[in-house]
Amino acid sequence: MSGKPFFITTAIDYVNNLPHIGTAYEKIGADVLARFRRLEGDEVFFLMGNDEHSVNVKKEAQARGLDPQRYCDQMADAFLSIWRKLRISFDDFIRTTEARHAAAVQALFTKIHQAGDIYPGKYRGLYCDSCETFYREKDLPGGVCPQHGTQPRPLEEDNYFFALSRYAQPIRQAIEEGRIRILPDIRRNEILSLLDSGLEDISISRSTFDWGIPLPIEPRHVVYVWFDALVNYISAVGYGWDMDRFRRIWPADVHVVGKDITRFHCVIWPAMLLAAGLELPRMVFGHGFVYLKGEKMSKSLGNIVRPLDIVDVYGSDALRYYLLRETAFGSDGNFTWENFTERFNRDLANDLGNLLQRVLTMIRRYRDGRIPAPSSLDEEDRALRDDCLGLYPEVRTCLDPGRGDLDFHVALARIWETVRHANQYVDHTGPWSLHKKGLEERLNTVLYCAAECLRFLGAILYPFLPEGSGKLLAQIGWAGPADPPRAEDLLAWGKLQPGNRVASPEPLYPRISDSPRQTPGASHVETPQERAAAAAGSNAPEEISLDEFHRVDLRVARILEAERIPKTDKLLRLRLDMGKERTVVAGLGRAFDPADLVGRLVVVAANLKPTRIRGILSEGMVLAAGEGEALALVTVSGPAKPGDRLR
Ligand code: MSP
Repeated sequence: MSGKPFFITTAIDYVNNLPHIGTAYEKIGADVLARFRRLEGDEVFFLMGNDEHSVNVKKEAQARGLDPQRYCDQMADAFLSIWRKLRISFDDFIRTTEARHAAAVQALFTKIHQAGDIYPGKYRGLYCDSCETFYREKDLPGGVCPQHGTQPRPLEEDNYFFALSRYAQPIRQAIEEGRIRILPDIRRNEILSLLDSGLEDISISRSTFDWGIPLPIEPRHVVYVWFDALVNYISAVGYGWDMDRFRRIWPADVHVVGKDITRFHCVIWPAMLLAAGLELPRMVFGHGFVYLKGEKMSKSLGNIVRPLDIVDVYGSDALRYYLLRETAFGSDGNFTWENFTERFNRDLANDLGNLLQRVLTMIRRYRDGRIPAPSSLDEEDRALRDDCLGLYPEVRTCLDPGRGDLDFHVALARIWETVRHANQYVDHTGPWSLHKKGLEERLNTVLYCAAECLRFLGAILYPFLPEGSGKLLAQIGWAGPADPPRAEDLLAWGKLQPGNRVASPEPLYPRISDSPRQTPGASHVETPQERAAAAAGSNAPEEISLDEFHRVDLRVARILEAERIPKTDKLLRLRLDMGKERTVVAGLGRAFDPADLVGRLVVVAANLKPTRIRGILSEGMVLAAGEGEALALVTVSGPAKPGDRLR
């Protein structure tokens, strides 16, 4: 490490339970920022960790009959494995039971004590174990903790106090002068009004509890867990054990924390730093909460959805995309399985996954799997190129905390504009008909532009969807830097090398079937056409009533797109407009050239149970008569339009 890195941190988690989607949300958000800065060429130091000295951690260890340290060791392994699965790219992971941390806490305590800001006293009051916070009666509406809804317990102890009250004015000044920035604005305003209402000195030691770091001046006391935990941001980078390293890395550029603990980071932490004569963090970002069916998924409340549930089944990108796209990082959001499935299928599987699949398939079919060399660009090509060139600058604006919020959801919406643009570009330029008409030069240009656009998408998605980004770039034959990609490659069109070989298309994000918890890829093998053929081969069908006939939803559909499915001459993947778009796999391949089908109005049995054929979810059956090469399509004429029902 040479100069000062961009230093980004998350809150360190209590280990009385495993991570859940809420705690993962924070790490994912911070990871996007860290990866984006790496893509920009910045040196980044991304710190995470575990907060191990809490009352609840000790209770949990006892409940399991484990020594607290052993329990924390086991939990650290579990946390690390979850964060790795989620592709959180932290550079260091601090645990508050480490020797380097104890050294820093004691050094900082001594420094503040010497400055005269720590004094002994007696604490009498109320304490919430879940928040690890002392409460004033007036801050407890209805006598219960505002975070946990539980009654804090009375506590009376000999404690040491920190003279927090002295720092209200200096902190206010630091905020107003922009020396410490608090985002989003709502959090800044909260802190300013807290400072206006005045600060009281706080107890920073515990004498009736022994799971913690001993006070250097009174070893029978341990340091209060927040006074211990906040120090992780400097203990990890050398404070108290390698001051040169500390001076090179500190201050933090961004502390990413939840809105419930912003006040610890914007009041107590700056006061501790000021008391010790240290620089303040440059920014605190207080993100919103992810709720499950409207209730906070706090570990203490017990209704937890573990990120692993999604990651193991659908991959890390699935969870990352959902959480980042669904809600503004500064606001609260809800997690529902329904929305998750919808977003995944629509945005990842259909829009992005299919785009890649289509382009690769055509490059393999028409150009033997090699990226063709483009000729001069026409208007449509230039529009796609300019769209791609706008990606990086616009995403950058969204991810620049100096400008305001961290707008991950806006950045993703912008990227998806390009994904849709690229799909429309392929629909419109129609490589299959260019091929049919023998317009080879034009076909080269179109295929090149589509693949080059995918290169931009792969690179700009790196911070958000690291798994898919790597796969996508590899599949289109990108041989340049990919982990991280380079910003400069996002500023120039034409970097994808003609002649490079593309991979055989592998679904980037296989669709999730209707039941959201089902493992993707668990598919039926029999096609609707095969089923129909089997039925036709049997004896004459039994009679059915008119009511039974009406149960079949027959609809007019326009074929928007048709392409062959690899390794079969029979099956085609059709994209249909039926009022809504859907995909159907049809056994029309021996009778029709895909290009000839595009634009035709056909009839589809629309309410057949979706079935997976060759990894593609087929949502209906196109009606046809005959077999093999002598197949006749059932079509409609007259003023019918897509979505009309047949009666
Ligand atoms: N140990 C303290 C933090 C000390 S930092 C010096 C703590 N731990 S925690 O495990 O309860 O929470 C860790 C982080 O996750 C916090 O930033 C918290 O705000 C965040 N979240 C906890 N539940 C959350 C949601 N349901 N949604 C979003 N973030 C959530 O607090």
